[in-house]
Amino acid sequence: MSRIAYVNGRCLPHGAATVHIEDRGYQFTDGVYEVIAVRHGVLIDGEWHMQRLQRSLSELQIDMPMSPAALNVVLKETVRRNRFSIGIVYVQISRGVARRDHPFPNPPVRPALVVTARRTPPTPAKTIDEGVAVISQPDIRWERCDIKSISLLPNVLAKQAARSQGGFEAWQVDGQGFVTEGGSTNAWIINNEGSLVTRPVENAILNGITRRRLIALAKAQGMQVEERPFSLEEAKSAREAFLTSTTAFVTPVVRIDDAILANGRPGSQTLALRQLYVDFMAETAT
Ligand SMILES: Cc1ncc(COP(=O)(O)O)c(C=O)c1O
Repeated sequence: MSRIAYVNGRCLPHGAATVHIEDRGYQFTDGVYEVIAVRHGVLIDGEWHMQRLQRSLSELQIDMPMSPAALNVVLKETVRRNRFSIGIVYVQISRGVARRDHPFPNPPVRPALVVTARRTPPTPAKTIDEGVAVISQPDIRWERCDIKSISLLPNVLAKQAARSQGGFEAWQVDGQGFVTEGGSTNAWIINNEGSLVTRPVENAILNGITRRRLIALAKAQGMQVEERPFSLEEAKSAREAFLTSTTAFVTPVVRIDDAILANGRPGSQTLALRQLYVDFMAETAT
């Protein structure tokens, strides 16, 4: 079945969908995006994603190309046309097309909107049964990582460094030795008291929707959640560790650089959290 993309008001075959060469997203990475999990036509935590999208746009002074309700219709329609039951929808909004010049175009141009959707394969059993390795990398990004901007070059380099060393993710470390987050995931540890520890929401990390949902689910189960920075050293001696994102859900981490965590197997609390999250998605989509 051929894929369909939505580009500035038109639904096109994926292979024929293009943007203008002077789109500011292409030339300056002047835009933002969201990735939303889809289960049987339902956008998981769709409202939270929409709120974060609006916040990212407003921080960059880019207008919404249409109302949130209308955009929601476009997202759902793009999902419907691509005919899958489990996957993701991607939405990208750039400042629009203008002659190349760094300041914002004046008068403003219409923001450019692209939506794609696709099936995602199930998480490989090995990832859950055996866990994944992460490597540490200096965090070389800018000071507005709270904006879900399409400027992802440091994240790309960090992820690639992980891949070339056999790791799944790179945990980025700030100048004080504290872990900020992964290249495309939030970072978590579980300490000896069983508390979940993850960096607080501020400019140094993206306020992950999976992170936010998992905090709510964990607290509802009576688990302790500490939103505070943790160092790379603390992570290496943690009882358990894991990462979260829209596509990775809750993925156990069993090695950080050369440090094997606990017995080198995914932790039981991490696996319980993954199940909580998977159950939440299933319930949301019924
Ligand atoms: C840098 C970064 N941190 C965290 C996340 C996880 O966010 P979410 O749970 O909303 O997918 C992402 C997702 O793309 C990301 O790019």
